[in-house]
Amino acid sequence: MSNLLSSLNEPTGRYKSRRHAGEAAMVVKFRCSPFQIGNTSIYPPVVLAPMADVTNGVFRRLVKKVGKPGLVCTEQISTYAIHYRNQKTLNMFDWQLEEHPLSVQLFGGNPEIMAEAARIVEEAGAGIVDINMGCWVPKVCRTGAGAALLRDEESALKVVEAVVNAVNVPVTVKMRLGWDYSHLTSIPLAKEMERLGVAAFTLHARTASQGYEGSADWSWIRRLKESVSVPVIGNGDVRTPLDAIAMIRETGCDGVMVGRAAIGAPWALRQIGHYLETGELLPDPLPAERVGWAMEHVRRLAEEWGEVQAVTHLRGQLPLYVKGLPGAARARAEIVAAKTIAEVESCLRIFLESSDGQ
Ligand SMILES: Cc1cc2nc3c(=O)[nH]c(=O)nc-3n(C[C@H](O)[C@H](O)[C@H](O)COP(=O)(O)O)c2cc1C
Repeated sequence: MSNLLSSLNEPTGRYKSRRHAGEAAMVVKFRCSPFQIGNTSIYPPVVLAPMADVTNGVFRRLVKKVGKPGLVCTEQISTYAIHYRNQKTLNMFDWQLEEHPLSVQLFGGNPEIMAEAARIVEEAGAGIVDINMGCWVPKVCRTGAGAALLRDEESALKVVEAVVNAVNVPVTVKMRLGWDYSHLTSIPLAKEMERLGVAAFTLHARTASQGYEGSADWSWIRRLKESVSVPVIGNGDVRTPLDAIAMIRETGCDGVMVGRAAIGAPWALRQIGHYLETGELLPDPLPAERVGWAMEHVRRLAEEWGEVQAVTHLRGQLPLYVKGLPGAARARAEIVAAKTIAEVESCLRIFLESSDGQ
């Protein structure tokens, strides 16, 4: 049984959320415990997933402030690009002290280059180095990196050994179940990788060839948890506090990782974390708060990248801050067409006035 699950207290009371009164009627209070990656304590046991083109420094810091997860991860960083000192890649070393604990995710298939890059990010302040064995994108897999390592176990182990030997910080691995359902290699590989010194695993419970099809099969998270003694972070389709507790109860995992549900909704992690800490469901934030965070996101990114690039980059994400609220579809159409921060702000102000949000 996981540390987390075993630490759940006996019910101490009931909580009735104003907004979730129906589903919360049977909710009981409990308190979960931190889990450890090396000497680093992760609490609440909620992790912001690494997401390319999403979890840059500005977004991580916003999520840290609003969502208060126990751990945040950078987007995946190419170790070849680090090796060749590609400036755009070096600009991704944009983490700050306030984000810690912070995991920096690397991808690559060459053990020496992975080791070199791991040393470099450790020196630059990474608290944890994570190895990507889940990315199924052909551009990445063609180079023998990401999920390609799940069908080349020998290389996977060489990469892990080289990285573990290169750094003093804990090394973790994020993987999928295997390449496809006829190559479910994650569990036998994880046992070997644990022997080599991997400090924790994250399992996105789909195969690489599945992409995002179907539902994540959480039963594999349970099987992994039963197969290794280091912490296991479950991942795949956790969107709400109730999803998170269901995953923990079904699998015994030590923590949950949240990806898509955090995009345009950094508060989702706070709702999940608060629930795991207290058993209480927090209400959704007010429309005005959501708009405030959307504006903070675009303004901060503009400070780093310039206005045009920030607005263009966030076109797909900003509408998500108001998704589900009355008038959101129209606001979305307008935000997508906006070219300046003033235009984004104007769309959102009109949206707030017409939705009577405060
Ligand atoms: C836009 C996007 C980018 C992603 N980039 C990465 C990445 O850089 N590294 C990685 O390991 N996984 C990446 N993923 C996968 C997520 O980390 C996560 O495993 C997956 O989305 C399942 O979790 P979810 O159901 O909570 O979204 C990405 C996912 C999305 C949606």
